[in-house]
Amino acid sequence: MCGIVGYIGSKEAKDILIEGLKRLEYRGYDSAGIAMVIKDLEIKKSVGKIKNLQEKCCNWESKSSTGIAHTRWATHGAPTENNAHPHTSCDGKIALVHNGIIENYSALRSQLIKKGHQFKSETDTEVLVHLIEDYFTGDLKEAVIKALASVEGTYGIAVVSSECPDKIVAARNGSPLVLGVGKGENFIASDVAAILSYTDKVIYLDDKEVAEITINGITTCDIESNPTKKEISKIDWDLEAIEKGGFDHFMLKEIHDQPQALRNGLAGRIDVKTGTIHLGGLNFGVKELKNIDRIVIAACGTSWHAGLLAEFLFENLVAIPTEVEYASEFRYRNPVVNDKTLLIVISQSGETADTLAALREAKGKGAKTLGIINVVGSTIAREVDGGMYIHAGPEIGVASTKAFSAQVSALLMLALHFGRMRNLSIPKTIEISEALLKIPDQIETILKQSEEIKKIALKYAKFRDFLYLGRNISYPVALEGALKLKEISYIHAEGYPSAEMKHGPIALIDPDFPSVFVVPKDSLYEKVLSNMEEIKARSGKMIAVATEGDKEIAKIADDTIYVPKTHDLLTPLLTVIPLQLFSYHVAVARETDVDKPRNLAKSVTVE
Ligand code: AGP
Repeated sequence: MCGIVGYIGSKEAKDILIEGLKRLEYRGYDSAGIAMVIKDLEIKKSVGKIKNLQEKCCNWESKSSTGIAHTRWATHGAPTENNAHPHTSCDGKIALVHNGIIENYSALRSQLIKKGHQFKSETDTEVLVHLIEDYFTGDLKEAVIKALASVEGTYGIAVVSSECPDKIVAARNGSPLVLGVGKGENFIASDVAAILSYTDKVIYLDDKEVAEITINGITTCDIESNPTKKEISKIDWDLEAIEKGGFDHFMLKEIHDQPQALRNGLAGRIDVKTGTIHLGGLNFGVKELKNIDRIVIAACGTSWHAGLLAEFLFENLVAIPTEVEYASEFRYRNPVVNDKTLLIVISQSGETADTLAALREAKGKGAKTLGIINVVGSTIAREVDGGMYIHAGPEIGVASTKAFSAQVSALLMLALHFGRMRNLSIPKTIEISEALLKIPDQIETILKQSEEIKKIALKYAKFRDFLYLGRNISYPVALEGALKLKEISYIHAEGYPSAEMKHGPIALIDPDFPSVFVVPKDSLYEKVLSNMEEIKARSGKMIAVATEGDKEIAKIADDTIYVPKTHDLLTPLLTVIPLQLFSYHVAVARETDVDKPRNLAKSVTVE
């Protein structure tokens, strides 16, 4: 998720653009850049936070009142100056900034290189500016429209040219863009936070719409150049609310971001017609897989729970022995690892010290290594032999939510990909891929229950102890639900395999010790039901996360939250959502600091 700002008017554009980027820094800030339209285009870029760009620009005598700027959350290509936006055409006369993912960028890049275009970056974005250059004959908007006709994927773009210094062209498909309407000046931004200091009148661009912005006004059309009529809306949010997208906390925003985060991670990776998974950057093919007789997964916290789910996926779909280790334990255990071991490290931040140490320990013993990472260009991402970025976008809340779901989705794609290199059939791959592609919409139906789940949370917010129980692939979900509750509401919660209750934990059960059961209608449903009966017989209160249509469960549980039916291996992607919402609403009721819980950090870069 990147940040875009553009200005055209009578004031000095540079300071307006830099200030606007600062307002968007929460959207991601691994690099930034600015393009000013003077006689020629003048470009400045920097790596790291916006303040680095600001320092570069402070002595810049660029007298210009037209420009665009960008703060990047890297998806394709590490955070370097070369990969930072704006990207420019070969002749340096067109500059472009982009938010989104161009799915067919490699095909477009090859075509453009054949036509003689010189690329300077590793990004998907750069193909756009060379495409526009290819079509440019003097009308910038027309060239943008022609270029976008061959683009697949999501974009929010702003484009300027020294050949047309009196306008900015913008276009949107899947990545939000808002146009600010000022007096003798106009703006463009990824969200209103960047421009609210200058105007509260905005036009929201719709998907497949193009805008031409000049000092005197804004015109819009659709992707076929048919003019479109747009309403001017008035913004009545304050800045803080805007950064959280109108949600009370970043955590709640990120819980609701999950459908889009998963769509971004799935984009361009699943060919459901042929049952093929396309994973660029894995650097791990049939030859390497043939050499592996064991998979070890090392991670921490929520990422470790994603690893536990991956164990089920790899053993079910790839049939290679898989074990999951706490990275903090693995690193000091003198593990038996060799060149027939594949170590997979999972890390949202890509900077967790224990996970990095486990990676280095395994590499030192000859293991092949893959990373499942969110932050592009992070330390772990740079030290693994290959891997997958999960494209979840920046996760601000300390309690991980959308990164967990995106990790599980990525690990499932990896398991399918490996499975197809071994004995997984095409029909089974297609069946699971089709189910996976439905998950974002199914999560949306669960998110609609947030108010219902809040009512349940308020009933249980006063309890001091919880048991979270699940069986088989629902056991890691129980652990994740317990961790969510612990880390943001400070309530003691333990996750357990539900059959283990009789080996001790059931001694804890009484009316003041509620349990949460993750009990989808799968192959072990009946067995979990009997575990629930055991708790009911001891007057234990129970909350169940169950499959839509299951009437039985509501006769036993005190409260039930339903999720849609899906493939057994995919149920965790749905059953975890109610647990995230439950812990969020309990924490809010207990007035803890949901986004920054006590004693915790977003990335634990120390031992
Ligand atoms: C999860 O909600 C916690 N914030 C924490 O357990 C986290 O998952 C763990 O520190 C690992 O972080 P990483 O994924 O960035 O490596």
